Parts: sequence; structure tokens; C-alpha cells
Amino acid sequence: MYIKIITYQSSEYLKSLELRDKILRKPLGMKLTEEFCRQDKDDFILGMFEENRIMAVLHLKPLSDTVLKMRQVAVNERLQEKGIGSKLVLFSEEFARNNNYKKIV
Ligand SMILES: CC(C)(COP(=O)(O)OP(=O)(O)OC[C@H]1O[C@@H](n2cnc3c(N)ncnc32)[C@H](O)[C@@H]1OP(=O)(O)O)[C@@H](O)C(=O)NCCC(=O)NCCS
Repeated sequence: MYIKIITYQSSEYLKSLELRDKILRKPLGMKLTEEFCRQDKDDFILGMFEENRIMAVLHLKPLSDTVLKMRQVAVNERLQEKGIGSKLVLFSEEFARNNNYKKIV
């Protein structure tokens, strides 16, 4: 498995939307709307992939030059509680440091 940054509106982004819809929205009886997805435009979107299948996603939204907000974290149902979420969080901390962010909220 590997982690990569996903480009907004790319084919990988569309795969990540399917995962978010299934894991984060459907259990709440909600859908991912176009308006909701517009919030993703400026996010750094991290995807965990196996071959070219998406296993997990995590968004980092810049709130300022030094602060990132972590949001929309979803791990494929059958892979939950196996350390994947933790790996994405560790990757996020390294990503934040490397890009001069000081804080993640
Ligand atoms: C919550 C979620 C992102 C965690 O990812 P994961 O890969 O399953 O978690 P990990 O195996 O890396 O576990 C990390 C820690 O979170 C805890 N954890 C995992 N799932 C949890 C849950 N549903 N509730 C409470 N704690 C949970 C683990 O016990 C572990 O704690 P520890 O480090 O103290 O042992 C994932 O289970 C998921 O997608 N859940 C459904 C969607 C969701 O709730 N997303 C978050 C809201 S944005």
C-alpha cells in the first residue's frame, strides 16, 4: 500500500468520493452534494492505495499559512482498526512539517 496526494477532480479524486460517500455520508443518511464537494477545492487530499484501488482518504484544509484542519477521514470498512488511519495521520504530520505548517486542528 502507498500514500499519495490526490488532485482535485482527477479520476483518483472520484474514487475517493465513492469511498467518502460510502463510509461517511450513507451511514448518516446523507449524500455528497456538489456544493459539499466544492469545499474540497483547496484541500490537500491524501489517498492510501493498494494497486490502484483506494483504501483510505484524509483531507487537510489550510486555514492559514500555518494551520491545517484535518477532515473527511475514511478507511475502507474491511480495513478499519488495522492501523491505516494512524499511518495517514503520521503521514499528515510529516506533510505539515515539510510544508511549514505549525499546527493541525
Ligand atoms: C475512524 C477511522 C478513520 C480510524 O481509522 P482506522 O484505520 O480504523 O484506525 P487505526 O486502526 O489506525 O486506529 C487508530 C486508533 O483509533 C481507534 N479507533 C479506530 N476506530 C475507532 C472508532 N470507530 N471509534 C473510536 N476509536 C477508534 C483505535 O482504537 C486506535 O486507537 P489507539 O491508537 O489508542 O489504539 C476509521 O475507522 C473510519 O473510517 N471509520 C468510519 C468513518 C469515521 O468515523 N471517520 C472519522 C470522522 S471524519
